[in-house]
Amino acid sequence: MVTMNRNKVVIVGTGQVGSTAAFAIVTHGLCNELVLIDHSAGKALGESHDLDDGSEFQDRHVKVRNGDYGDCKDADIVVITVGRKPPANSTRLDELGFTIGLVGDVVDRVMASGFNGVIVMVSNPVDVMAWYAWKRSGLPRTQVLGTGTALDTSRLKTIIGEETGLDPRNVGGFVMGEHGDSQFTAWSTVSLGGKPFARFLGDNADRFSSVSTHEIEEKTRTRGNEIVAAKGGTNFGIASTVAGIVQTILWDERRIVPVSTLLDGEYGERDVFLGVPTELRANGANEIVELELADDELAKLHHSAELVRSYCEGLL
Ligand code: LAC
Repeated sequence: MVTMNRNKVVIVGTGQVGSTAAFAIVTHGLCNELVLIDHSAGKALGESHDLDDGSEFQDRHVKVRNGDYGDCKDADIVVITVGRKPPANSTRLDELGFTIGLVGDVVDRVMASGFNGVIVMVSNPVDVMAWYAWKRSGLPRTQVLGTGTALDTSRLKTIIGEETGLDPRNVGGFVMGEHGDSQFTAWSTVSLGGKPFARFLGDNADRFSSVSTHEIEEKTRTRGNEIVAAKGGTNFGIASTVAGIVQTILWDERRIVPVSTLLDGEYGERDVFLGVPTELRANGANEIVELELADDELAKLHHSAELVRSYCEGLL
């Protein structure tokens, strides 16, 4: 009998983000087994039953249940989503004081199980938390990554689609750096319909005269805060991002995604996690793709690195 790989994913934290990520994973049938862990066992149980009840209408039956940290032992991926709804007008870096203790405890419990898979960090400030989880877990750099600027890059494409009326999937390129206010759009990497974005606009000046790259970059950077102000938090965009990262790892797709990964000399930076284009494989963050950035873009990456590194100081 042919047996599927026993793809097993654990999600720690079943709040808005964790439960929505679970729904995305179940709806897409990404794994064989999904275990939910929460400090409230009742919440994890309720979410697992609620997710399971739709099995008749799902593409594949994912076995969903609530569990404990012992379930991490043979998990391929552990997704860490612990945190809180961000206060209004706060930055993601402001969450450090609230999140650091939670993440440290979760990482210790995950590693105590004998886990040797890939940690996908979602908790903000995600670049700092990914670095902290890497240091605290002792896992190789490939096996710890954060969602990084993958969501911001998706937002960039969505907003370019809104501004031009074209399908966002026609857009290539990356938002890089911190998943936060110091992120930047690497316009030198952005293409539309296979043309450099600036060239595409110039070749269609009459049609796209009102499109501004500055406005697009600002809308991308502030999209998360705008959603938080409107609905109190974000969950759908980040959940789709988590599901996409989980799929690429579990299915060894080798997609290049700007996750938050350890820079160890790339772009002239070390000992910092930032969102940079990275090849994702079954072993996690397999290889950083080092792009030829414009001078101003490289300067923004260094600024982001210095800012994120400054928040990592003294955490261990
Ligand atoms: C956002 C959260 C995940 O940007 O930071 O939606």
